[in-house]
Amino acid sequence: FNKNGIFVERALALIKPDAVNKADDIEAIILNHGFSILQKRRVTLTAEQCSDFYSEHYGKKFFPSLVAFMTSGPIVAIVLSKENAIQQWRELIGPANSIVAKETHPDSIRALFGSNEQKNAVHGNDSAVSVEREIRFFFPNCIVEPIPVGQPAKDY
Ligand code: TYD
Ligand code: MG
Repeated sequence: FNKNGIFVERALALIKPDAVNKADDIEAIILNHGFSILQKRRVTLTAEQCSDFYSEHYGKKFFPSLVAFMTSGPIVAIVLSKENAIQQWRELIGPANSIVAKETHPDSIRALFGSNEQKNAVHGNDSAVSVEREIRFFFPNCIVEPIPVGQPAKDY
């Protein structure tokens, strides 16, 4: 909800290990596109945490190297908010494979900061269902439930 009590969608962004040294540039792009940054955290995942986060891909051929890459250094987790944030963020990051992104979406973040199908600079959750889980994964104390109108403000 924004300050006027209107619901504004949220999205989870991750800046991956290959692009953490470009985090300031990526954050500037995020803000220039009208997103607000609600939460931000720098973290290095363990293999177990990373496997949990990417559990939908467990068993796929690329899973072990994805986990190795994503645990190779710190990442930056960011909660974004904007109208239609999930779709807007997916559009701004571009196709998953940065080689494809450079061809088809040269202005996208994955084109600008990524290198290939694995080192693609950033993550975005893919649906309104996954966003709740993914935000909670990195920000367990984050408010996810809407606050009923009239309820006094609480500190978190
Ligand atoms: P996926 O969910 O298909 O893409 P997205 O990040 O756009 O939701 O895949 C998750 C991540 O897995 C992707 O960002 C990079 C990595 N990956 C590989 O390393 N190799 C691959 O062949 C694929 C399809 C993905
Ligand atoms: Mg995905």
